[in-house]
Amino acid sequence: MKVLEAKFVKDFCKMCDDGYSMGWHERNGGNLSYRIKHEEAESIKDDLNGFGDWKPIGTTVPNLAGECFLVTGSGKYFANIKADPESNIGIISVDDKGENYKVLWGLKNNARPTSELPTHLMNHEVKKQSTDGKYRVIYHAHPVNLIALTFVLPLDDKTFTRELWETMTECPVIFPSGVGVVPWMVPGGRDIALATVEKMKEYDVAVWAHHGLFASGEDFDLTFGLMHTVEKASEVLVKILSMTDRRRQTITSDDFRNLAKDFNITIPEKFLK
Ligand code: 13P
Ligand code: ZN
Repeated sequence: MKVLEAKFVKDFCKMCDDGYSMGWHERNGGNLSYRIKHEEAESIKDDLNGFGDWKPIGTTVPNLAGECFLVTGSGKYFANIKADPESNIGIISVDDKGENYKVLWGLKNNARPTSELPTHLMNHEVKKQSTDGKYRVIYHAHPVNLIALTFVLPLDDKTFTRELWETMTECPVIFPSGVGVVPWMVPGGRDIALATVEKMKEYDVAVWAHHGLFASGEDFDLTFGLMHTVEKASEVLVKILSMTDRRRQTITSDDFRNLAKDFNITIPEKFLK
């Protein structure tokens, strides 16, 4: 099968387009990666080219040795992916030490994978281990309301989690483990990747202060839905904070405890104090 006929490639392109339609991807903002299933890689193997050079990932991901990923390109616009996938996204494989990658398809004219490849791959590594291989998607976007909140809320996990949970009843059901916050750091390297991975060990969502959000999930729908929910909750909170600094009522710690019981979810007590 041709790469462009594969369902996971079509779904990947649709997610990029949906994110662009939401306004989360100005210019080349944001990036997406998908850990390809063995049978999916098999189904397109005749359309892959294994002759490229190995290039350093910029970090080491030994538990991803031999894995293939579909990734967005660095400097590429989400707006253009649907019309020209081969120039804007690509399939890469990781070598047997987890130190280098090579391009097997796409990223035409010497384009490179996203500059956030270290963060994507280190997050994949952590999630692959902690979910028994279930999580396959890592998504980074620049949603406006979430970014705005990073200028007014204290940059700690508890405040962000609790404030976002209180905006909409479904929030603790959709991200029960909470939200991690990474302070402002230079993007695109190993240091910010290491800080993000520390958060991703505990959460599915990591805020990058004054920059954007990373979300992780099992598939495209769940990961996009998670990004969407966090951003919608952020929008509600921005509206509340724009109206008043005094809320008359909110969802209480006991409300969250009751919700957790009925929805059969576990939410950490540290966020309910
Ligand atoms: P890339 O174009 O390299 O993916 O970078 C976009 C971005 O959002 C960096 O954080
Ligand atoms: Zn970014």
